Amino acid sequence: MTDTGGQGPAAGVTGRPERILLADDDAAVRALLRTLMIGEGYAVTEAPNGRAALAALAEHGPFDLLVLDVRMPGRDGLEVTRRVRADPTTALTPVILVTGGGALEDKIAGLDAGATDFLTKPFEAPELLARVRAALRMKAAIDRLESTQGVLVALANAVEAKDPSTEHHCDRLGGLAMTLGRLARLDAEAVEAIGYGAALHDIGKIGVAETILRKPARLTDAEWAEIRRHPEIGARIVRPLRLGAIVAPVVRGHHERWDGHGYPDGLRHEQIPIGARIVALVDAFDAMTHERPYREGMPIDAALAELAREAGRQFDPALAALFIEHCAAFGAPDEAAAAGAFARGLVGAAVR
Ligand SMILES: [Fe+2]
Repeated sequence: MTDTGGQGPAAGVTGRPERILLADDDAAVRALLRTLMIGEGYAVTEAPNGRAALAALAEHGPFDLLVLDVRMPGRDGLEVTRRVRADPTTALTPVILVTGGGALEDKIAGLDAGATDFLTKPFEAPELLARVRAALRMKAAIDRLESTQGVLVALANAVEAKDPSTEHHCDRLGGLAMTLGRLARLDAEAVEAIGYGAALHDIGKIGVAETILRKPARLTDAEWAEIRRHPEIGARIVRPLRLGAIVAPVVRGHHERWDGHGYPDGLRHEQIPIGARIVALVDAFDAMTHERPYREGMPIDAALAELAREAGRQFDPALAALFIEHCAAFGAPDEAAAAGAFARGLVGAAVR
C-alpha cells in the first residue's frame, strides 16, 4: 500500500486535498488511475486487494472517495462496499466500482452492495475524472450538512445545560414536531426546518440570565419581560444556518397564540408561521406529559384534554385536531388511542 500526496486544485471543504482510496489488483490500472488523480491534485492511497483496502480504511481513514475494482482476489470490491456501508463512520462515503466491459451482473450486484457510481473498463480519462468530481461534490455536500447538524446539536445542548427544565426536551421535541408536520402534509424541506426549529426553539435562552431561568421563586414583571425576549434572540441566532430563513420564523413565533395574545409580535391565526404553530402545540404537550423537577408528568388523556380545551385559543384548532386524531403516533400508543377518542369530542366544536 502506498500513499501519494496531491496538491493543488482538489482541496475539499476542509481546505485539505481530497483523499481517495484506490484498490485494484492490476498494478498497471492502479498506476494509470493514480497518475490521473494526482494530476488533479487529489491525495491517493493505494491498495492491491480488498483486504488491504479495509486495512487502509481502518488505519488511514476517513477518505473522501473509494475507487474499487469489482473483481479482486479474496475480498472483492462488492464485499468492501458492503462493509463500508455497514460501518456508520463510512456509510456515507461515495464508492465508485470499476467493472469489466458489459458486466451487467457486476453493476446489479454493485448497486445492491451500495455503490455510488460505476466506471467501465476500458475507460477514458475525462470520464473517470468527471465521475470522481461528481462523487466528491456529493461528499462535500454531505460534509457541509453534517457540520451544520453538529452546530445545531451543540447549540441545543448549550440551552439544555443552562435551563434544567428543557433537559432531554430538545431532541424529543424535534421528532414530535416533524411527525405533526408530515401529518399536516408539509413538504420535506419544511418538515426538516420544523425539526430544527423545534429542537432549537428555546435557543434564545442563552441570552437570558441564568439566575432568572433557575429562580425558584415567583418572577417579577421585569424578569418576565427578560424571558420573553428569548424567541427574538433565538431567531437571530439561527438565521445564519443553512435553513435559517425557514427555521428563524419557527423560533421567533413559538410563543405566539392562535387568538393573538401571544408574543413577541401578537400574530394571530394563519399570520403565525405553521412551523411555529406546530412547535407551540408539541412543546405544550411534551411539557405537560413529562416530569419536571417541581411536578410529575400529566397522564396523556389529561394533556390531550387540555390541548382540546385550548384549540382555537392558544393553539391552531386544525393542528390540535390532527394531533389528537393521531395521538398514538406521539406517545404511548395504547393510552393515547383511548385518550384521543375522548379529546376528539372536546376539540370538535373548535374545529368545525
Ligand atoms: Fe420558549
